[in-house]
Amino acid sequence: MKGMKFLKCFGMALLVAALGTVSCAKKGDDKIKIGVSMPTQSLQRWNQDGSNMKAQLETAGYQVNLQFAGDNDIPTQVNQIENMITGGVKILVIAAIDGSALTEVLKQAKEKSIPVIAYDRLLMNSDAVSYYASFDNFKVGVLQGSYIESKLNLKTAEGPFNIELVTGAPDDNNVNFFFGGAMSVLKPYIDSGKLKALSGQTSQAQAATPNWSTEEAQKRFENIITSVKYGPNGVKLDAVLCSNDSTANGVTNALVNAGYTKDNFPILTGQDCDRPSVKNMNAGTQAMSVFKDTRTLASKVVEMVNALAKGEEPPVNDTSTYNNGAGVIPSFLCDPIVVEPKDIQAALIDSGYYKLADIQ
Ligand code: BGC
Repeated sequence: MKGMKFLKCFGMALLVAALGTVSCAKKGDDKIKIGVSMPTQSLQRWNQDGSNMKAQLETAGYQVNLQFAGDNDIPTQVNQIENMITGGVKILVIAAIDGSALTEVLKQAKEKSIPVIAYDRLLMNSDAVSYYASFDNFKVGVLQGSYIESKLNLKTAEGPFNIELVTGAPDDNNVNFFFGGAMSVLKPYIDSGKLKALSGQTSQAQAATPNWSTEEAQKRFENIITSVKYGPNGVKLDAVLCSNDSTANGVTNALVNAGYTKDNFPILTGQDCDRPSVKNMNAGTQAMSVFKDTRTLASKVVEMVNALAKGEEPPVNDTSTYNNGAGVIPSFLCDPIVVEPKDIQAALIDSGYYKLADIQ
């Protein structure tokens, strides 16, 4: 018994070394505090990420300070993180709005030896970042590009086909990987002329959508439809690469307003399997979404937190891809999968991610 107690306290002593002063007791206020900072509550996935993280960390015995930064408000996120640091968190988990906007506040974390885990989006230009947990973001893009390649039969069909490109927020490092992954498949076809973007907007900057906003994506796409004269009875649009569901929803609105129906809808990609997109897949408009099970990501981050709390090395499976400007950040990348209408039941309902009523 005595030995057990010694071991427990020895374990905690390691933790003390890594994380500062904590007590052996784990009740109430003595629980180790973890700060979880999420970018926005206006998009379904971040609400799920936040609540999954909180639930899983609390089950593991931590006290959780979970904050959402308004609607993608950078000063709010900075303030919330500052308050977490002064409030005594021992580990920070941060999904940034703008990956480069937290450099100053992260210095405070480093001064207090608080390990920082970048959640889903890499935190840039800071040597305070200890680990990164995300999905394989390049693969997300490859899955989207390959889906279009296969549905249009690009390897063998003669073409040409018309495509437009829509990606996300320029300040989200993930966009480089989503767009880069998709273009690794599609660019050769654009270069050879088999795929044409008649808007002429093929660069990542031209395809960007500030804040991943549905409204911004819709506005841009309405302009493209008008200027190129795309339409069910106009110029044929074969595919739209959308990097995620919030932008795909904006494009869907623009296409539906222009008269497109499920019978002539262009092949439209997405990511996240957000409820509106799953409904659109069931309705036959959006063709696919890349599913990133946020429960898996949350449990991986909880494993990282547990390891750090014990003074151990967290699990990583990539030590070369993600350089944040201050160095390569050891990462754990979860695996994204394609969901088409035929996969909804198995991937989203049977797995318990959604109830049927959520997506009807
Ligand atoms: C996430 C996507 C999400 C997008 C918009 C990205 O960083 O990886 O899952 O759709 O942000 O919130």
